[in-house]
Order: sequence, then C-alpha cells, then structure tokens
Amino acid sequence: MLRTHTCGELCKKHIGQKVTLTGWVDRIRNLGGVNFVMLRDRYGLTQVIFSSEMVKGIKRESVLLITGSVRERPNETVNPDLSTGEIEVVADSVEVLSSPLEDLPFYPTDTKPPSEEIRLKYRYIDLRNREVMNRFIIRHKVSQAVRNYLSSEDFLEIETPFLTKSTPEGARDFLVPARIKSGTFYALPQSPQIFKQLLMIAGTDRYFQIVRCFRDEDLRADRQPEFTQIDLEMSFVTMEDVIKVTEGMFKHVFREVLGVDLPNNFDRYSYNQCMNEYGSDKPDRRIGMKLFDVTDCFENTSFGVISNVVDSGGVVKAFKIENFSQKTSRKTFQEFEDIVKSMSLKGLLWFTLNDGNDIRGSAIKYLKREYSMTASRLEMNTNDVCVLGAGKREVVNRALGELRRIVGDTYFSHLKTGFDIFWVLDFPLLEWNEDEQRYVAQHHPFTMPNIQDLEEYEAKDPSKIRAQSYDIVINGFEVASGSIRIHDRDLQKRVFRLLDLEDKDVENKFGFLLEAFKYGAPPHGGIAVGLDRLIAIMCRTSSIRDVIAFPKTSSGSCPLTGAPCEVEKDQLAELGLKREDSK
Ligand code: AMO
Repeated sequence: MLRTHTCGELCKKHIGQKVTLTGWVDRIRNLGGVNFVMLRDRYGLTQVIFSSEMVKGIKRESVLLITGSVRERPNETVNPDLSTGEIEVVADSVEVLSSPLEDLPFYPTDTKPPSEEIRLKYRYIDLRNREVMNRFIIRHKVSQAVRNYLSSEDFLEIETPFLTKSTPEGARDFLVPARIKSGTFYALPQSPQIFKQLLMIAGTDRYFQIVRCFRDEDLRADRQPEFTQIDLEMSFVTMEDVIKVTEGMFKHVFREVLGVDLPNNFDRYSYNQCMNEYGSDKPDRRIGMKLFDVTDCFENTSFGVISNVVDSGGVVKAFKIENFSQKTSRKTFQEFEDIVKSMSLKGLLWFTLNDGNDIRGSAIKYLKREYSMTASRLEMNTNDVCVLGAGKREVVNRALGELRRIVGDTYFSHLKTGFDIFWVLDFPLLEWNEDEQRYVAQHHPFTMPNIQDLEEYEAKDPSKIRAQSYDIVINGFEVASGSIRIHDRDLQKRVFRLLDLEDKDVENKFGFLLEAFKYGAPPHGGIAVGLDRLIAIMCRTSSIRDVIAFPKTSSGSCPLTGAPCEVEKDQLAELGLKREDSK
C-alpha cells in the first residue's frame, strides 16, 4: 500500500509516529497563516497541517499522498465528532497524485446537495459522501451476515442463468436478441424461480443466491428495473420450516448489522385479517389507526345512502385519528374524500368529538346517534376525529387503507420509529384480471393452493381459493414473498387450467418444468427477500435508489452512462434486427 494508515485510524497512541496517508482533500482552511487540510478517505477524516509552500496548487478533491508526524491537538481544538479528533498530522512532504482539472459539479460534503439527476450523473462524487457510502457498508454487512447464516444452515449458494427463458413474475421481460439464431431472444430472469425449483428436483435440498432480477415495470421509489433478491428454496418442508429459517435469518442480520433484536416470533396475519384491520396487505402498524367494522351502529339508520349499503350486504368501517380535530378544516376532509374517491369509494363521512361530548360532522342531522355509538365503540376521546366509509367490504377496506396510509405519511411520520415486522399469510391464489378477462396468479403459477379450498371452490368460485403463500412486511413495505410450490405435474396442470392457459402455451412456456416433475420432485418451498428494500429500511431512507450504487432514475435511465441508448446499425444487422422507422 502507498499509505501506512487510513484517514480514520490515527489516535493518541500514534503520537510521535511518522505516517503516510492518502486521500482526497475535503476542505482547506487557512487560520492565521497555518493551513489545515482535511484529508478524507472511506474510513474517515484526518487533519493535516501544511506549510504555505506545500499547500500551493492543492484544491478541494485533489488526491494526495502526504508524509508527516502525528502530534496531539491542543486541548481547545480537539474534535469529539471525529475518530481522529485528538490528533493531527504535521506534513513534511506532499505528493499530488491527481488534481481536479476544473471545479467539480458539486462537492461531496456540500450542505445542499444538487438534484438527484446530477447526483446520479456524477455518482462517483456522490459516493464520496460518508453518509451515502455508509449505506453500502451496511449493504455489504447484510450480504455477509446472510451468507454466514444460510451457510451455517446448510444452504448452498448456486448461480442461475441471466440469459434464459422468461419466468413469469407478473412483469414485462427484458429481452436480449440472440445473434446465434436470428429472430430468437433470451429473456433476463424476473427471478430465478423455475431454476431454484429445478435445483430442488436435482437434490440440492437447500439453495440460496443473492441475485439480480430484471423486470420491465413502472418504476416507483421501491422499484427498480434491476434489483437484488436474497433468494432461497428448501426441499421436504412445510410453510412453518420456511418461516423458521427466514425469521432466523432476519434476526441474525438485524442483530449482527444494527445490534437490533427483532421479536422472537414475528406476528402473523391472514391476508383477510390484514385487509380488514388495515385496508392493506402491507400496512405500517406503527401509525396505529386500525379499521373497525361499525356496520351494526348503522343498522337502523334513516340516512338513505348508508341504509342502502347496509341492506345490500355492504359494510360501514371507520378509523379514528387521535387528537387531530384542531389540525383539520373543511378542506382537510375534502382532500380526504378525494383520496377515497380515487379508490372507488362513493364518499367519506367524518365527525369530531369535541368538549362535552359534542359531536360535529358530515350529515350530522341524520347520523348523530350512529356517530355517538361509533365514538364509544372506537373509544374516542375529546379532539379525536373519526372517518368512515360505506360500501362493498373490499372497496371500503382499500379506500380507508389508502387514506390511513396518507394520513400517516402526512401527519404522523414522528411515530415511524423502530422496525415493525410481521408475516401476512394465506393470500388468495388468484386475482381477476379485468383486461385479460381471466384469473392470473396472485404470486406465481407454481404456488401450492390450499388443497381443501381447491376441492371446494375450483368449480364454484376460484377467487376463494387460498394459496400456501407468505409475505414479510416491514414498516409498511413488502420486503419478502414466498410460497410452498406445487411439485406434482397433474396439480400444476390443474392450476394452469384455472389460469385459463392453453395447453400449447403451457408446453411452450413451462414444458421443461413439467417434464422435470416426471422424474421425481420433492415437496419444496421458498422465499425471496427484496435486498434493496431491506437495506433502505435498515438505513431509514425512503428510496431504494439510495442503496443501489448505480441506480436508474424513475424514468428508467442511467444519467451516468446515458443508457438506454441507440446502437450502431451494424450491431443491429448482426442480430438480424432492423428499426421499423429506418426501412
Ligand atoms: P416477488 O415477485 O414477490 O417474488 O419478489 C420478491 C421480493 O422482491 C422485491 N421486489 C422488488 N424490489 C425492487 N424492485 C422491484 N422491481 C421489485 N420487485 C420485487 C420485493 C418482493 O417482496 N420468485 C418469487 C419468490 C418466491 O416465491 O420464492 C418472487 O420473485 O421485496
């Protein structure tokens, strides 16, 4: 190494030693003729004293190699915020290894960072910021902890192909034209799902991989076109076994990396229970505001809109927002109503509980008695606000769930501390797709149905069939998802039929998996954890772009390289491709 120590290493015990340091110039200050240069590397900052002669030509972000001696800082200049804050190095020689040719577009420690677009265009400068780099240190530690834990549980890390045939996870594929056979394409894997199942048929018994997945879908703060999963699969297991290993892995990772102890057993909700209580399958429980079914309080109501809903089998549901009435105005409730309307609910009712049990609210002329019953059901206190929705159960749940989420984000983010982790189980196997007019798999088509449900509802009402599937939710994000798989050819074909897939499509898409089932398949199941989402939560940042070294923007482009971009005509010709507009 060119250096003897890093910039985060020197302390009192090194006083008097001659050292060589390398790094970037973070700041230069001249105080009374003495030049203080803060030298920075990944490990920290060290104050170096330069003579006026030595500092000439040195700029912020110059890369230096300095040699000097370590001395104690005078008492009044000790910096308790720096690991090296008790010492400084008096330089006796400096070599400029590289110096910026022009001003940087921004400086890594600028207090006001530039736009995300600029930060990503110059990500290598952005990453020089300690806070930004720290997230990658955490990411590294998480990957290490995962590898250690799973290896100790007998999992084998095995790689699966990137150039493959499409695996259905519900998104569009990224396609790669194959030069060797004109007109054909590889697909980048949306996940290693089928390969990990084949590895079980191969007798691997326990597989894992920290693996890149590719999905061409609409991007959001928690979605990237390429992202990473901690993917695992186990043979001869039930759901309980997968749950046990996964909980063990999460507990190990949080303890090792953050020193945080997660609960011994994570709470469990069925999908239906979760939707009923929170109106979402990935609620953030830290903000409270559970939904209550208060239909019975409205049973004999004279208010036509509601009585129609109740008489036709609908529900009235409500949640309270504690100590909130002072913060509201008519406009607030108008905004709340717009939110539920955007979720297909017809309207929103609301009331506040004021001093002396005085109730004010919408349609109060007709609903005073009902509101009063609701207030005692929800154990409301003075200044609490209650919002209510009436309609079909699923619609009400989702609309109030969305309102709850937005109210939480807007007014109660101070409650969002710590880590709230739990399981959601028993998802529906199928989801009705309006566009395609058929059921699609809620998770993926290889998910084992609840067999009793299958027998009972296959012909009658397939939407009622539950899957043997499970998700992990942390702080309002779906962080992991998995299921027990079908390992029987006939059962798999039966599920394909429910999905209205034609035999020739099935053969074309999954023939190789069905064939493998012919030759002895163990019962198996697994799960995949979204590593980027997990790290973002652990780093308490709201976008997974912050924890990916070179992410794409929300429009899917890479400001640094300019990808995606056009290619040479020759390259297209070699692949047998022609742009439609170039005739
Ligand atoms: P699923 O599609 O639910 O399951 O994905 C598993 C987890 O991956 C994360 N994730 C994403 N993260 C960032 N950007 C994306 N575009 C993105 N899409 C998904 C989520 C999600 O919970 N093969 C199955 C797993 C299994 O059944 O074992 C699968 O991929 O955190």
